[in-house]
Amino acid sequence: MYKSIIRPLFFSFDPEKIHHFTFSMIRFSNLIGLGGAFRSVYKFENPKLERELFGIKFPNPVGLAAGFDKDAKLYKELSNLGFGFIEIGTVTPKPQDGNEKPRIFRLIEDEAIINRMGFNNGGVVEAVERLKNNPVQGDKKRVLIGGNIGKNKITPNEEAVNDYIICFEALFDYVDYFVVNVSSPNTPNLRALQEKKPLTDLLQTLQDKNNLKHKRKPILLKIAPDLTDEQLLDIIDIVSITKIDGVIATNTTISRDGISSENKNEMGGLSGKPLTKRATEVIRFLSEKSNKAFPIIGVGGIHSAEDALEKLDAGADLIQLYTGFIYEGPGLIKEINQAILKRA
Ligand code: FNR
Repeated sequence: MYKSIIRPLFFSFDPEKIHHFTFSMIRFSNLIGLGGAFRSVYKFENPKLERELFGIKFPNPVGLAAGFDKDAKLYKELSNLGFGFIEIGTVTPKPQDGNEKPRIFRLIEDEAIINRMGFNNGGVVEAVERLKNNPVQGDKKRVLIGGNIGKNKITPNEEAVNDYIICFEALFDYVDYFVVNVSSPNTPNLRALQEKKPLTDLLQTLQDKNNLKHKRKPILLKIAPDLTDEQLLDIIDIVSITKIDGVIATNTTISRDGISSENKNEMGGLSGKPLTKRATEVIRFLSEKSNKAFPIIGVGGIHSAEDALEKLDAGADLIQLYTGFIYEGPGLIKEINQAILKRA
């Protein structure tokens, strides 16, 4: 029903407007008591799907990637659709509007999206207020939350570390793991922070803060698919030096290889099907060259159960989706979990 009725209807409207509309619809349906119905249709639980990673027990390995619920407005309702974990953000210390609209484009022939949102978000304080409604760790009703953090556009790179610290400290008690995002193509110069020296310094500073805590939280790094092999080897080194807990591979790409849709020349990050192969290559490279030294969350162009299994076979421990969720609908989450279970 999603692909034959709902998707054509949604795709006839402006992508950002329909995103907000869908948000309101999901929230409204849950408010009038349909959350249980969503759960019974989409949730798929089985002990064999559980994964234990960096001290966290994930109910299943399929998560929602960052960017969909930037402000932590809908994590409970989204978990009713069957996701094992929800990554909120990217959040920044101060609220910011992001880039001018339009800033999100569908590339239907390529089953892809280009976005240049630019970290539009309500700021970390607002996100924390919402996350306070999530039951505490250990409670069965808690939704597992990843906190994806970034810097404000107006903050120069030399001061970026302060922005990450502010977000880290504010979110510390409310998220289950952290993601340091230095890989979005839509904040000018952000990706320069992926260079070895600034990245090592940034992650080490956060780790030092982390080690002062009563109980530290896992910190992961989210990387771009556009890094060279040499840069990927640097990433393996940096993980080992700073002892962070893992890597999320990958963010959106600036490449437009093989794209035919008319929107292909829009500026921004490309996600969806054209990213499938490259994201898997990055996962395989990191996993093989590091000798599986750290956990990897695989993301990029998962549009089917086969795509998901490929990411896991390449070395991903967990996976996430965004664009596949938009193109295929919530049924995809269950399909993936069923396929994983079948192989267990
Ligand atoms: C994203 N993504 C993203 N990633 C991130 O770390 N912080 C963010 O704020 C966003 N925002 C965002 C907005 C939109 C509209 C899209 C489509 C994507 C990237 C996302 O989390 C994921 O890494 C990529 O989209 C690749 O996965 P998919 O979409 O191919 O499954």
